[in-house]
Amino acid sequence: MEYIKPDLTKARKRTGSNTEEIDFVLEDQYKNIGLGKNYHVITFGCQGNEADSEVMSGILEEMGFKESIKEEADVLIINTCAIRENAEERFYGTVGGLKALKQNKKDMIICICGCMPQEEKTITKILDKYPQIDVVFGTHNIHMLPKYISNALESKKRIIEVYSTEGNIVEKLPHIRVSNKKAWVNIMFGCDEFCTYCIVPYTRGKERSRRPEFIIEEVKDLVSKGYLEVTLLGQNVNAYGKDFKDIDYTFSNLLLDLSDTGIARIRYTTSHPRDLDEATMKAMQRPNVMPHLHLPVQSGSDAVLKKMNRKYTHDEYLEKINKLREYNPGISITTDIIVAFPTETEEDFNATLKLCDEVGFEGAFTFIYSPREGTPAAKYENNITNEEAHRRLDLLHDKINAGYLKGNKRFENKVVKVLVDGVSKNDPNTLCGYSEHNKLVNFKGNKDSIGTIVDVRITEAKTWFLIGEEVE
Ligand code: SAH
Ligand code: SF4
Ligand code: F3S
Repeated sequence: MEYIKPDLTKARKRTGSNTEEIDFVLEDQYKNIGLGKNYHVITFGCQGNEADSEVMSGILEEMGFKESIKEEADVLIINTCAIRENAEERFYGTVGGLKALKQNKKDMIICICGCMPQEEKTITKILDKYPQIDVVFGTHNIHMLPKYISNALESKKRIIEVYSTEGNIVEKLPHIRVSNKKAWVNIMFGCDEFCTYCIVPYTRGKERSRRPEFIIEEVKDLVSKGYLEVTLLGQNVNAYGKDFKDIDYTFSNLLLDLSDTGIARIRYTTSHPRDLDEATMKAMQRPNVMPHLHLPVQSGSDAVLKKMNRKYTHDEYLEKINKLREYNPGISITTDIIVAFPTETEEDFNATLKLCDEVGFEGAFTFIYSPREGTPAAKYENNITNEEAHRRLDLLHDKINAGYLKGNKRFENKVVKVLVDGVSKNDPNTLCGYSEHNKLVNFKGNKDSIGTIVDVRITEAKTWFLIGEEVE
Protein backbone atom coordinates (compact mmCIF):
# COMPACT_ATOMS: atom_id res chain seq x y z
CA MET A 1 0.00 0.00 0.00
CA GLU A 2 1.25 3.47 -0.92
CA TYR A 3 1.51 5.98 1.86
CA ILE A 4 0.45 9.59 1.35
CA LYS A 5 2.74 11.66 3.54
CA PRO A 6 2.51 15.29 4.66
CA ASP A 7 4.62 18.06 3.20
CA LEU A 8 4.98 21.26 5.25
CA THR A 9 6.32 23.26 2.30
CA LYS A 10 3.22 22.40 0.30
CA ALA A 11 1.02 23.13 3.32
CA ARG A 12 2.41 26.66 3.52
CA LYS A 13 1.22 27.54 -0.01
CA ARG A 14 -1.84 29.66 -0.59
CA THR A 15 -2.61 29.51 -4.31
CA GLY A 16 -6.06 31.11 -4.23
CA SER A 17 -7.64 27.92 -5.55
CA ASN A 18 -11.36 27.56 -4.92
CA THR A 19 -12.60 25.73 -1.88
CA GLU A 20 -14.69 22.72 -2.76
CA GLU A 21 -17.85 22.00 -0.80
CA ILE A 22 -18.52 18.33 -0.26
CA ASP A 23 -21.57 16.74 1.36
CA PHE A 24 -20.81 13.83 3.63
CA VAL A 25 -22.76 10.70 2.71
CA LEU A 26 -22.16 7.36 4.38
CA GLU A 27 -22.06 4.81 1.58
CA ASP A 28 -24.22 1.69 2.05
CA GLN A 29 -21.19 -0.62 2.03
CA TYR A 30 -19.95 1.00 5.28
CA LYS A 31 -23.25 1.15 7.14
CA ASN A 32 -23.14 -2.02 9.23
CA ILE A 33 -19.41 -2.51 9.57
CA GLY A 34 -19.43 -1.52 13.22
CA LEU A 35 -22.35 -3.63 14.41
CA GLY A 36 -21.35 -5.38 17.62
CA LYS A 37 -18.13 -3.39 17.82
CA ASN A 38 -16.95 -0.54 20.05
CA TYR A 39 -15.03 2.69 19.61
CA HIS A 40 -13.27 5.17 21.85
CA VAL A 41 -11.87 8.62 21.00
CA ILE A 42 -9.09 10.39 22.94
CA THR A 43 -8.81 14.11 22.21
CA PHE A 44 -5.89 16.49 22.72
CA GLY A 45 -5.76 20.16 21.76
CA CYS A 46 -8.22 22.95 21.07
CA GLN A 47 -11.99 23.13 20.74
CA GLY A 48 -11.52 22.58 16.99
CA ASN A 49 -10.24 19.12 17.81
CA GLU A 50 -13.05 18.52 20.29
CA ALA A 51 -15.54 19.39 17.56
CA ASP A 52 -13.76 17.07 15.11
CA SER A 53 -13.88 14.25 17.65
CA GLU A 54 -17.64 14.74 17.98
CA VAL A 55 -17.89 14.37 14.20
CA MET A 56 -15.79 11.18 14.19
CA SER A 57 -18.02 9.74 16.93
CA GLY A 58 -21.02 10.67 14.78
CA ILE A 59 -19.57 8.90 11.75
CA LEU A 60 -18.62 5.77 13.73
CA GLU A 61 -22.10 5.53 15.27
CA GLU A 62 -23.66 5.79 11.80
CA MET A 63 -21.45 2.82 10.91
CA GLY A 64 -22.95 0.89 13.83
CA PHE A 65 -20.14 1.24 16.39
CA LYS A 66 -20.98 1.93 20.06
CA GLU A 67 -18.86 4.02 22.43
CA SER A 68 -16.91 2.14 25.11
CA ILE A 69 -13.97 2.52 27.48
CA LYS A 70 -10.64 2.38 25.68
CA GLU A 71 -9.77 -1.13 26.93
CA GLU A 72 -12.84 -2.53 25.15
CA ALA A 73 -12.56 -0.54 21.93
CA ASP A 74 -12.25 -2.25 18.55
CA VAL A 75 -11.43 1.13 17.05
CA LEU A 76 -9.39 3.57 19.12
CA ILE A 77 -8.87 7.07 17.73
CA ILE A 78 -6.34 9.56 19.08
CA ASN A 79 -6.94 13.11 17.88
CA THR A 80 -3.67 14.97 18.35
CA CYS A 81 -2.38 18.53 18.83
CA ALA A 82 0.92 19.95 17.59
CA ILE A 83 0.79 23.43 19.08
CA ARG A 84 3.66 22.98 21.57
CA GLU A 85 6.29 20.37 22.36
CA ASN A 86 4.55 19.29 25.56
CA ALA A 87 1.30 18.53 23.66
CA GLU A 88 3.30 16.18 21.45
CA GLU A 89 5.03 14.60 24.44
CA ARG A 90 1.70 13.86 26.07
CA PHE A 91 0.60 12.13 22.89
CA TYR A 92 3.72 9.94 22.77
CA GLY A 93 3.17 9.07 26.43
CA THR A 94 -0.34 7.88 25.59
CA VAL A 95 0.79 5.90 22.54
CA GLY A 96 3.48 4.13 24.55
CA GLY A 97 0.75 2.76 26.82
CA LEU A 98 -1.21 1.38 23.87
CA LYS A 99 1.22 -1.45 23.21
CA ALA A 100 -0.03 -3.32 26.26
CA LEU A 101 -3.63 -2.49 25.38
CA LYS A 102 -3.20 -4.02 21.96
CA GLN A 103 -1.56 -7.13 23.36
CA ASN A 104 -4.77 -7.81 25.29
CA LYS A 105 -6.97 -7.01 22.33
CA LYS A 106 -5.06 -8.02 19.21
CA ASP A 107 -7.69 -6.93 16.69
CA MET A 108 -7.89 -3.38 18.02
CA ILE A 109 -7.41 -0.78 15.29
CA ILE A 110 -5.49 2.25 16.48
CA CYS A 111 -5.95 5.45 14.46
CA ILE A 112 -4.00 8.70 14.83
CA CYS A 113 -5.38 11.91 13.40
CA GLY A 114 -5.49 15.68 13.95
CA CYS A 115 -2.60 18.12 13.70
CA MET A 116 0.45 15.95 14.49
CA PRO A 117 0.20 13.72 11.40
CA GLN A 118 0.31 16.91 9.31
CA GLU A 119 3.97 17.20 10.36
CA GLU A 120 6.58 15.20 8.49
CA LYS A 121 8.53 14.34 11.65
CA THR A 122 5.50 12.62 13.21
CA ILE A 123 5.17 10.23 10.29
CA THR A 124 8.88 9.40 10.40
CA LYS A 125 8.62 8.64 14.09
CA ILE A 126 5.49 6.50 13.71
CA LEU A 127 7.14 4.48 10.94
CA ASP A 128 10.29 4.01 13.01
CA LYS A 129 8.94 3.33 16.44
CA TYR A 130 5.24 2.70 16.70
CA PRO A 131 4.13 -0.49 14.91
CA GLN A 132 1.00 -0.55 17.08
CA ILE A 133 -0.51 2.31 15.04
CA ASP A 134 -2.68 1.04 12.17
CA VAL A 135 -4.23 4.11 10.55
CA VAL A 136 -2.87 7.65 10.22
CA PHE A 137 -4.81 10.50 8.67
CA GLY A 138 -4.80 14.28 9.03
CA THR A 139 -7.14 17.21 9.50
CA HIS A 140 -8.37 17.29 5.90
CA ASN A 141 -9.78 13.78 5.56
CA ILE A 142 -11.86 13.02 8.63
CA HIS A 143 -14.83 12.36 6.33
CA MET A 144 -12.90 9.43 4.80
CA LEU A 145 -12.89 7.60 8.13
CA PRO A 146 -15.40 4.92 6.97
CA LYS A 147 -13.09 3.86 4.13
CA TYR A 148 -10.02 3.76 6.36
CA ILE A 149 -11.76 1.72 9.06
CA SER A 150 -13.24 -0.67 6.54
CA ASN A 151 -9.86 -1.21 4.82
CA ALA A 152 -8.03 -1.63 8.11
CA LEU A 153 -10.54 -4.19 9.37
CA GLU A 154 -10.34 -6.12 6.13
CA SER A 155 -6.70 -6.01 5.14
CA LYS A 156 -4.87 -5.41 8.43
CA LYS A 157 -2.42 -3.35 6.42
CA ARG A 158 -1.19 -0.06 7.74
CA ILE A 159 -2.78 3.05 6.18
CA ILE A 160 -1.08 6.45 6.12
CA GLU A 161 -3.01 9.12 4.24
CA VAL A 162 -2.24 12.75 5.09
CA TYR A 163 -3.05 15.55 2.66
CA SER A 164 -1.27 18.89 2.68
CA THR A 165 -3.94 20.65 0.66
CA GLU A 166 -5.34 24.10 1.28
CA GLY A 167 -8.52 22.37 2.41
CA ASN A 168 -12.18 21.90 1.52
CA ILE A 169 -15.40 22.22 3.48
CA VAL A 170 -17.44 19.15 4.31
CA GLU A 171 -21.10 19.67 5.18
CA LYS A 172 -23.84 17.34 6.48
CA LEU A 173 -21.47 15.67 8.90
CA PRO A 174 -23.06 13.75 11.78
CA HIS A 175 -22.15 14.69 15.38
CA ILE A 176 -22.40 12.94 18.70
CA ARG A 177 -22.14 15.93 21.01
CA VAL A 178 -20.68 15.57 24.49
CA SER A 179 -23.28 17.93 26.00
CA ASN A 180 -27.00 18.24 25.26
CA LYS A 181 -27.07 21.93 26.26
CA LYS A 182 -23.82 23.40 24.92
CA ALA A 183 -22.53 22.85 21.40
CA TRP A 184 -19.46 23.71 19.37
CA VAL A 185 -20.29 25.08 15.95
CA ASN A 186 -17.50 25.39 13.40
CA ILE A 187 -17.96 28.52 11.34
CA MET A 188 -14.65 28.44 9.52
CA PHE A 189 -11.55 26.34 9.13
CA GLY A 190 -7.83 27.01 8.72
CA CYS A 191 -5.77 30.11 9.31
CA ASP A 192 -3.97 32.54 6.99
CA GLU A 193 -2.34 34.67 9.68
CA PHE A 194 1.00 32.87 9.77
CA CYS A 195 2.12 34.13 13.15
CA THR A 196 5.79 33.18 12.99
CA TYR A 197 5.70 30.78 15.96
CA CYS A 198 2.55 28.91 15.00
CA ILE A 199 2.06 25.56 13.27
CA VAL A 200 -1.72 25.87 12.78
CA PRO A 201 -1.70 27.48 9.28
CA TYR A 202 0.34 24.44 8.16
CA THR A 203 -1.77 21.80 9.86
CA ARG A 204 -5.23 23.21 9.13
CA GLY A 205 -4.93 24.75 5.68
CA LYS A 206 -6.22 28.05 4.39
CA GLU A 207 -8.96 30.18 5.92
CA ARG A 208 -12.31 29.07 4.55
CA SER A 209 -15.76 29.95 5.84
CA ARG A 210 -18.85 27.80 6.00
CA ARG A 211 -21.83 29.29 4.19
CA PRO A 212 -24.04 31.27 6.61
CA GLU A 213 -27.17 29.34 5.67
CA PHE A 214 -25.63 26.05 6.87
CA ILE A 215 -24.48 27.59 10.15
CA ILE A 216 -27.87 29.23 10.80
CA GLU A 217 -29.61 25.94 9.99
CA GLU A 218 -27.33 24.09 12.42
CA VAL A 219 -28.01 26.56 15.23
CA LYS A 220 -31.78 26.52 14.59
CA ASP A 221 -31.68 22.75 14.76
CA LEU A 222 -29.77 22.94 18.07
CA VAL A 223 -32.37 25.37 19.47
CA SER A 224 -35.15 22.96 18.50
CA LYS A 225 -33.31 20.18 20.36
CA GLY A 226 -33.15 22.24 23.56
CA TYR A 227 -29.59 23.53 23.33
CA LEU A 228 -28.96 26.74 25.26
CA GLU A 229 -25.45 27.71 24.23
CA VAL A 230 -23.32 27.62 21.10
CA THR A 231 -19.63 28.45 20.85
CA LEU A 232 -18.68 29.48 17.34
CA LEU A 233 -15.30 28.09 16.42
CA GLY A 234 -12.50 29.20 14.15
CA GLN A 235 -8.80 30.04 14.52
CA ASN A 236 -9.60 33.63 13.58
CA VAL A 237 -13.38 34.06 13.60
CA ASN A 238 -13.07 37.78 12.87
CA ALA A 239 -11.91 36.86 9.38
CA TYR A 240 -15.17 34.96 8.82
CA GLY A 241 -16.68 35.60 5.41
CA LYS A 242 -13.71 37.44 3.97
CA ASP A 243 -13.26 34.58 1.53
CA PHE A 244 -16.79 34.79 0.10
CA LYS A 245 -16.70 36.01 -3.47
CA ASP A 246 -20.43 36.30 -4.12
CA ILE A 247 -21.78 37.83 -0.90
CA ASP A 248 -20.74 40.64 1.40
CA TYR A 249 -21.24 38.90 4.72
CA THR A 250 -18.81 38.98 7.64
CA PHE A 251 -18.64 37.90 11.27
CA SER A 252 -20.91 40.65 12.61
CA ASN A 253 -23.64 39.67 10.12
CA LEU A 254 -23.38 36.11 11.30
CA LEU A 255 -23.57 37.11 14.98
CA LEU A 256 -26.75 39.12 14.33
CA ASP A 257 -28.40 36.35 12.31
CA LEU A 258 -27.53 33.76 14.95
CA SER A 259 -28.77 36.05 17.68
CA ASP A 260 -32.13 36.05 15.85
CA THR A 261 -32.40 32.24 16.05
CA GLY A 262 -33.31 32.64 19.71
CA ILE A 263 -30.44 30.57 21.09
CA ALA A 264 -30.00 31.65 24.73
CA ARG A 265 -26.24 32.10 24.63
CA ILE A 266 -23.66 32.71 21.91
CA ARG A 267 -19.93 32.61 22.55
CA TYR A 268 -17.07 32.54 20.08
CA THR A 269 -13.40 31.76 19.95
CA THR A 270 -10.79 32.77 18.83
CA SER A 271 -10.49 36.37 17.81
CA HIS A 272 -7.53 38.05 16.19
CA PRO A 273 -7.13 41.63 17.48
CA ARG A 274 -6.34 43.07 14.07
CA ASP A 275 -9.53 41.76 12.50
CA LEU A 276 -11.88 42.59 15.39
CA ASP A 277 -14.10 45.34 13.95
CA GLU A 278 -16.60 47.81 15.37
CA ALA A 279 -19.53 46.08 13.73
CA THR A 280 -18.67 42.99 15.79
CA MET A 281 -18.35 45.03 18.98
CA LYS A 282 -21.80 46.44 18.25
CA ALA A 283 -23.28 43.01 17.51
CA MET A 284 -22.00 41.91 20.92
CA GLN A 285 -24.54 44.26 22.49
CA ARG A 286 -27.25 41.72 21.70
CA PRO A 287 -28.31 40.19 25.02
CA ASN A 288 -27.73 36.63 23.87
CA VAL A 289 -24.16 37.33 22.71
CA MET A 290 -22.22 36.76 25.93
CA PRO A 291 -20.22 39.61 27.55
CA HIS A 292 -16.87 37.85 27.38
CA LEU A 293 -14.13 38.10 24.79
CA HIS A 294 -11.01 35.98 24.52
CA LEU A 295 -8.63 38.21 22.60
CA PRO A 296 -5.12 36.74 22.44
CA VAL A 297 -2.48 39.45 22.63
CA GLN A 298 0.64 37.20 22.84
CA SER A 299 2.96 40.04 23.95
CA GLY A 300 2.86 43.67 25.06
CA SER A 301 6.08 44.60 23.29
CA ASP A 302 5.94 46.13 19.82
CA ALA A 303 9.31 44.62 18.91
CA VAL A 304 8.14 41.12 19.83
CA LEU A 305 4.71 41.57 18.22
CA LYS A 306 6.48 42.50 15.01
CA LYS A 307 8.72 39.43 15.12
CA MET A 308 5.63 37.35 15.79
CA ASN A 309 3.93 38.83 12.70
CA ARG A 310 0.88 39.80 14.75
CA LYS A 311 0.24 42.96 12.67
CA TYR A 312 -0.79 45.25 15.56
CA THR A 313 1.01 47.23 18.24
CA HIS A 314 0.59 47.49 22.00
CA ASP A 315 -1.33 50.77 21.56
CA GLU A 316 -3.54 49.46 18.78
CA TYR A 317 -4.51 46.52 20.98
CA LEU A 318 -5.38 48.91 23.82
CA GLU A 319 -7.44 51.06 21.48
CA LYS A 320 -9.48 48.02 20.45
CA ILE A 321 -10.07 47.17 24.10
CA ASN A 322 -11.20 50.70 24.89
CA LYS A 323 -13.59 50.73 21.95
CA LEU A 324 -14.90 47.32 22.94
CA ARG A 325 -15.61 48.58 26.46
CA GLU A 326 -17.36 51.67 25.11
CA TYR A 327 -19.81 49.42 23.29
CA ASN A 328 -19.93 46.74 25.98
CA PRO A 329 -19.28 48.13 29.47
CA GLY A 330 -18.39 45.43 31.99
CA ILE A 331 -17.31 42.92 29.36
CA SER A 332 -14.81 40.36 30.67
CA ILE A 333 -11.59 40.08 28.65
CA THR A 334 -9.21 37.14 28.66
CA THR A 335 -6.14 36.47 26.55
CA ASP A 336 -3.25 34.22 25.51
CA ILE A 337 0.34 35.24 26.20
CA ILE A 338 3.63 33.67 25.12
CA VAL A 339 6.73 34.39 27.21
CA ALA A 340 10.37 33.95 26.20
CA PHE A 341 9.76 34.34 22.50
CA PRO A 342 13.23 34.39 20.86
CA THR A 343 15.02 37.68 21.64
CA GLU A 344 12.39 38.79 24.20
CA THR A 345 14.28 41.12 26.55
CA GLU A 346 13.50 42.01 30.13
CA GLU A 347 12.12 45.28 28.78
CA ASP A 348 9.87 43.47 26.28
CA PHE A 349 8.61 41.23 29.05
CA ASN A 350 7.92 44.22 31.30
CA ALA A 351 5.87 45.74 28.48
CA THR A 352 3.71 42.60 28.61
CA LEU A 353 3.23 42.94 32.38
CA LYS A 354 2.33 46.60 31.88
CA LEU A 355 -0.22 45.74 29.24
CA CYS A 356 -1.87 43.27 31.64
CA ASP A 357 -2.40 46.14 34.09
CA GLU A 358 -3.63 48.48 31.40
CA VAL A 359 -6.19 46.04 30.04
CA GLY A 360 -7.20 44.35 33.28
CA PHE A 361 -7.32 40.83 31.88
CA GLU A 362 -9.62 38.58 33.89
CA GLY A 363 -7.75 35.43 32.95
CA ALA A 364 -5.19 34.16 30.48
CA PHE A 365 -3.64 31.07 29.00
CA THR A 366 0.08 31.58 29.36
CA PHE A 367 2.78 29.64 27.55
CA ILE A 368 6.52 29.42 27.28
CA TYR A 369 7.49 29.70 23.62
CA SER A 370 8.00 26.30 22.02
CA PRO A 371 9.81 26.13 18.65
CA ARG A 372 7.80 24.37 15.92
CA GLU A 373 9.71 22.82 13.08
CA GLY A 374 8.86 24.41 9.74
CA THR A 375 7.77 27.79 11.17
CA PRO A 376 9.91 30.94 10.66
CA ALA A 377 10.49 31.51 14.40
CA ALA A 378 12.08 28.07 14.75
CA LYS A 379 15.05 29.53 12.88
CA TYR A 380 15.34 32.60 15.14
CA GLU A 381 18.25 32.57 17.51
CA ASN A 382 16.92 31.74 20.96
CA ASN A 383 19.20 32.60 23.84
CA ILE A 384 16.68 32.67 26.69
CA THR A 385 17.43 29.95 29.21
CA ASN A 386 14.76 27.61 30.44
CA GLU A 387 15.22 28.98 33.93
CA GLU A 388 14.66 32.54 32.75
CA ALA A 389 11.59 31.49 30.76
CA HIS A 390 10.12 29.92 33.90
CA ARG A 391 10.94 32.98 35.97
CA ARG A 392 8.99 35.14 33.50
CA LEU A 393 6.12 32.69 33.40
CA ASP A 394 5.88 32.73 37.22
CA LEU A 395 5.84 36.53 37.32
CA LEU A 396 3.19 36.60 34.64
CA HIS A 397 1.10 34.05 36.54
CA ASP A 398 1.10 36.28 39.62
CA LYS A 399 -0.08 39.19 37.52
CA ILE A 400 -2.77 37.17 35.76
CA ASN A 401 -4.03 35.61 38.98
CA ALA A 402 -4.43 39.04 40.56
CA GLY A 403 -6.52 40.06 37.51
CA TYR A 404 -8.56 36.86 37.78
CA LEU A 405 -9.42 37.59 41.42
CA LYS A 406 -10.20 41.25 40.73
CA GLY A 407 -12.47 40.23 37.86
CA ASN A 408 -14.27 37.77 40.12
CA LYS A 409 -14.56 40.18 43.06
CA ARG A 410 -16.74 42.52 41.05
CA PHE A 411 -19.53 39.95 41.20
CA GLU A 412 -19.62 39.61 44.99
CA ASN A 413 -23.15 40.27 46.31
CA LYS A 414 -24.50 40.39 42.76
CA VAL A 415 -26.95 38.03 41.10
CA VAL A 416 -25.58 36.32 37.98
CA LYS A 417 -27.16 33.99 35.44
CA VAL A 418 -25.60 30.52 35.38
CA LEU A 419 -26.08 27.74 32.86
CA VAL A 420 -25.91 24.76 35.18
CA ASP A 421 -23.57 22.05 33.88
CA GLY A 422 -24.05 19.58 36.71
CA VAL A 423 -22.77 18.56 40.11
CA SER A 424 -19.32 19.84 41.12
CA LYS A 425 -16.53 17.27 40.83
CA ASN A 426 -15.21 18.07 44.29
CA ASP A 427 -18.48 18.19 46.23
CA PRO A 428 -21.64 16.23 45.36
CA ASN A 429 -23.77 18.80 47.20
CA THR A 430 -22.62 21.68 45.04
CA LEU A 431 -23.76 22.56 41.52
CA CYS A 432 -21.54 24.24 38.97
CA GLY A 433 -21.81 26.14 35.73
CA TYR A 434 -20.70 29.29 33.94
CA SER A 435 -22.01 32.83 34.22
CA GLU A 436 -22.57 35.09 31.24
CA HIS A 437 -19.10 36.57 31.79
CA ASN A 438 -17.71 33.02 31.60
CA LYS A 439 -16.95 32.75 35.30
CA LEU A 440 -17.06 29.30 36.87
CA VAL A 441 -19.70 29.38 39.64
CA ASN A 442 -20.01 26.74 42.37
CA PHE A 443 -23.25 27.09 44.26
CA LYS A 444 -25.85 25.54 46.50
CA GLY A 445 -28.97 24.86 44.49
CA ASN A 446 -31.62 22.45 43.35
CA LYS A 447 -30.42 19.51 41.22
CA ASP A 448 -33.48 20.01 39.00
CA SER A 449 -31.75 23.16 37.77
CA ILE A 450 -29.13 21.11 35.90
CA GLY A 451 -29.34 21.95 32.20
CA THR A 452 -31.18 25.23 32.77
CA ILE A 453 -30.16 28.85 33.31
CA VAL A 454 -30.75 30.04 36.88
CA ASP A 455 -30.10 33.14 39.00
CA VAL A 456 -27.31 32.73 41.55
CA ARG A 457 -26.40 35.22 44.26
CA ILE A 458 -22.61 35.41 44.62
CA THR A 459 -21.46 35.26 48.23
CA GLU A 460 -17.70 35.00 47.75
CA ALA A 461 -15.13 35.39 44.99
CA LYS A 462 -12.09 33.11 44.81
CA THR A 463 -9.28 33.41 42.26
CA TRP A 464 -10.55 30.64 40.00
CA PHE A 465 -14.27 30.57 40.74
CA LEU A 466 -17.25 32.21 42.40
CA ILE A 467 -19.27 30.78 45.28
CA GLY A 468 -22.99 31.42 45.55
CA GLU A 469 -26.54 30.32 46.27
CA GLU A 470 -29.36 29.79 43.84
CA VAL A 471 -32.03 32.48 44.11
CA GLU A 472 -35.36 30.75 44.78
N1 SAH B 1 -5.93 30.91 16.66
C1 SAH B 1 -5.92 31.21 18.01
C2 SAH B 1 -5.27 30.20 18.91
C3 SAH B 1 -4.16 29.41 18.43
S1 SAH B 1 -3.32 28.36 19.48
C4 SAH B 1 -5.32 32.56 18.14
O1 SAH B 1 -4.58 33.01 17.33
O2 SAH B 1 -5.63 33.17 19.10
C5 SAH B 1 -3.57 28.94 21.09
C6 SAH B 1 -2.44 29.67 21.68
O3 SAH B 1 -1.28 28.87 21.74
C7 SAH B 1 -1.98 30.89 20.92
O4 SAH B 1 -2.80 31.98 21.13
C8 SAH B 1 -0.59 31.10 21.46
O5 SAH B 1 -0.62 31.88 22.63
C9 SAH B 1 -0.16 29.69 21.83
N2 SAH B 1 0.87 29.19 20.92
C10 SAH B 1 0.78 28.96 19.60
N3 SAH B 1 1.95 28.52 19.10
C11 SAH B 1 2.81 28.48 20.14
C12 SAH B 1 4.19 28.12 20.27
N4 SAH B 1 4.90 27.74 19.24
N5 SAH B 1 4.76 28.21 21.51
C13 SAH B 1 4.03 28.61 22.57
N6 SAH B 1 2.75 28.95 22.50
C14 SAH B 1 2.13 28.89 21.30
FE1 SF4 C 1 -1.71 30.50 14.95
FE2 SF4 C 1 -1.71 33.11 14.64
FE3 SF4 C 1 -3.40 31.61 13.25
FE4 SF4 C 1 -3.76 31.90 15.85
S1 SF4 C 1 -3.89 33.52 14.32
S2 SF4 C 1 -3.86 29.99 14.70
S3 SF4 C 1 -1.69 32.00 16.62
S4 SF4 C 1 -1.19 31.62 13.07
FE1 F3S D 1 -3.55 21.98 18.47
FE2 F3S D 1 -4.21 21.78 15.97
FE3 F3S D 1 -5.84 22.96 17.66
S1 F3S D 1 -2.21 22.22 16.74
S2 F3S D 1 -4.45 23.84 19.13
S3 F3S D 1 -5.27 20.85 17.70
S4 F3S D 1 -5.49 23.53 15.56
